[in-house]
Amino acid sequence: MTASQGRGFTVFMTGLSGAGKSTLSERLRDLIESEYQRPVTLLDGDIVREMLSSGLTFSRADRELNLRRIGYVAGEVTRHGGVCICAAIAPFRSARAEARARISSFGAFYEIYVSTPLAVCETRDPKGLYRKARRGEIRGFTGIDDPFEAPEKPDLHIDTSKLAIADSIERILALPLRDALL
Ligand code: ADX
Repeated sequence: MTASQGRGFTVFMTGLSGAGKSTLSERLRDLIESEYQRPVTLLDGDIVREMLSSGLTFSRADRELNLRRIGYVAGEVTRHGGVCICAAIAPFRSARAEARARISSFGAFYEIYVSTPLAVCETRDPKGLYRKARRGEIRGFTGIDDPFEAPEKPDLHIDTSKLAIADSIERILALPLRDALL
């Protein structure tokens, strides 16, 4: 199989910091690249904020702009028949809907709500940011003093405190993803 075979699509992971979006995205990317020989563009929040959105804050307007940029790039990848995985908190429903509308005009779009509960994310606290937010050292932290509007109709929910990563990946592939990969 060559990289040009198969259809373009985007898998969009939204959820709190520490929910497991990056871990799931990396595992999914590795599997798609190794098992299906399709190159994957991974737009992970932390990298996007360094490479595309440096200088943006975590205000509502900047979070929306950050997502518009992600949606634009994912749309272009999808339009060219590529596979794009996005992993961003993306806390605002309207901004997610805008990304969905744009990308799905070019190919399939799957929204995955990584719905790991706040208490678990906070216990994991991989970057120590929840602790800082609780102490008031960071203001406007999603889930603490900034909103997260949960998706109402995601294509899939994954709670990584209940489901193992390998099982989560299986569920993602069972979206009609496998068909698009072949
Ligand atoms: S989004 O809200 O604009 O979609 P994005 O996914 O790019 O967020 O970045 C989230 C990451 O930025 C978090 O995992 C965390 O490491 C870091 N971060 C720094 N400040 C904040 C904040 N105020 N709210 C949420 N995440 C923050």
